[in-house]
Amino acid sequence: MRKPFIAGNWKMNLDSSGAVQLAAEIVKHSSAFQGIDIAICPPAVYLLAVGGELENSAVALGAQNMYFESSGAFTGEISGPMLRDVGCRYVILGHSERRHILGETDAEINRKIDAALAVDLNPILCVGELLEEREAGETEAVVEKQLSGSLQGISASQMSSVTIAYEPVWAIGTGKVATPEQAQEVHADLRRMIRDCYNAETADAVRIQYGGSVKPSNAANLLSQPDVDGALVGGASLNIEDFLGILAEAT
Ligand code: PGA
Repeated sequence: MRKPFIAGNWKMNLDSSGAVQLAAEIVKHSSAFQGIDIAICPPAVYLLAVGGELENSAVALGAQNMYFESSGAFTGEISGPMLRDVGCRYVILGHSERRHILGETDAEINRKIDAALAVDLNPILCVGELLEEREAGETEAVVEKQLSGSLQGISASQMSSVTIAYEPVWAIGTGKVATPEQAQEVHADLRRMIRDCYNAETADAVRIQYGGSVKPSNAANLLSQPDVDGALVGGASLNIEDFLGILAEAT
């Protein structure tokens, strides 16, 4: 039985007081949501302040990215040990905005996953196809390439710390959500790929979140699919009523 996992990806939004306020509101209501894992991923500059609000709560802190080296002359980058130092348990890696706007490759994402696992950070690995790739019937091939490229050299036992997020790029921030059937089809494909690469036990245990325009109104149908184990929520995680509404649907 996989425990549902809802994570809020705040992206490059909010200011310091807005971030702290939103975190405090989520913590205040979090005890109502039993039996699910909850994480929020604020911008890196607010991790410490938001982490302070999350102390002694069931809400975990996550980062949106990291570099694969642990320290040194890498101006502007943030390392896994630094994320651990400020209390992060999770790190989103390979988000489509990083792949497509910032040019991140599977090979770089693979090094980041390896570096995250080395310091006991739990990666949330994002995969997903562009609209033209879906229309060309390439969805399965695209996510398979992203998945295998990003997980190169990662062992079955390490996979117990990895969450996968299926995020069709055409659904992110567009209001155009995948149908529950579309999501389920790709989630089942991803689980089969994990089974083929590793084993049935690893595939049965790995959590696969859906991401892309998740809202309270569509969360229940998506989360009711057998291979959808949670959600990675962007826009709706910035609005307290919407985020609490999604948590309620997952509970
Ligand atoms: P969205 O973003 O919920 O705003 O579509 C999801 C994500 O990018 O993680």
